[in-house]
Amino acid sequence: MQAKVVVIGSLNMDLVTRAERLPRAGETLAGESFITVPGGKGANQAVAAARLGAQVSMVGCVGDDAYGEQLRAALLVEQIDCDAVTAVPGISSGVALIVVDASSQNAIVIVAGGNGRLTPEVVARFDSKLAEADVIICQLEVPMDTVEHALQRARELGKIVILNPAPASGPLPASWFSMLDYLIPNESEAAALTGITVDSLASAEAAASQLLKAGAAKVIITLGALGSLFADGQRITHFPAPKVQPVDTTAAGDTFVGGFAAALAQGKSEAEAIAFGQIAAALSVTRAGAQPSIPRLSDVQGFRPS
Ligand code: RIB
Repeated sequence: MQAKVVVIGSLNMDLVTRAERLPRAGETLAGESFITVPGGKGANQAVAAARLGAQVSMVGCVGDDAYGEQLRAALLVEQIDCDAVTAVPGISSGVALIVVDASSQNAIVIVAGGNGRLTPEVVARFDSKLAEADVIICQLEVPMDTVEHALQRARELGKIVILNPAPASGPLPASWFSMLDYLIPNESEAAALTGITVDSLASAEAAASQLLKAGAAKVIITLGALGSLFADGQRITHFPAPKVQPVDTTAAGDTFVGGFAAALAQGKSEAEAIAFGQIAAALSVTRAGAQPSIPRLSDVQGFRPS
């Protein structure tokens, strides 16, 4: 039986512009290109888990517009179960306005649209999907009470629970930590959760220690080109990232989370799952766009470090 991952979260249409640099406040800047690609942290993580070997169900909401249909279609092509992707009448689908600069960094503004309509009641309607999962993943692009409901149910059902606290604007509710198996922030999210500026391995260690003290069982801070830091109270381990030539970092974190979850669901050890997720994320930054950049299992298996 294929391992099952359920993602409860966002779907966005990404409107992506490439420009030499990110615009300053009040400035109009000429861009170099424009593309529309399926994204959203939840949907990206679902696609990553599916392409990397898991059977995936998505729980989320889109608007009743053309983007909603395209976002659903992008998941169905990956054999992702979309029974629990609901089209909400009278609202737009979520969108993300993304600018990618010449050094492949990005800035993103999101408009929740349908994602804001993923209520605890909607998730409760699809409780049977959660019950079938080995691993359940949540992020923060849907309402906080929905995330809390999903984490609680996942914990009650005895699933492996992953929270990618993205985007994060402040500390998490204290009661959430005991419901998580893995908390996976990036540098800026770890900083928002802890108040510690995370820009080195030492500061990442300090942030991870604070999150463990707050009640997290296991923390993985993703650090871009530096790799990631795993901490569980007994050990702190640094996993260096494979070296690649970056083109676009959009969805690298999502690829890591989806790949890590897929590997864990298939019974891999934490260390193996982190290494696997890191290769997948490294490959994703060598390609443009969110979902189009996410590699397949054969790409990861064929990866040879340079
Ligand atoms: O993590 C990348 C994603 O963030 C993009 O696909 C965009 O939709 C935003 O949600």
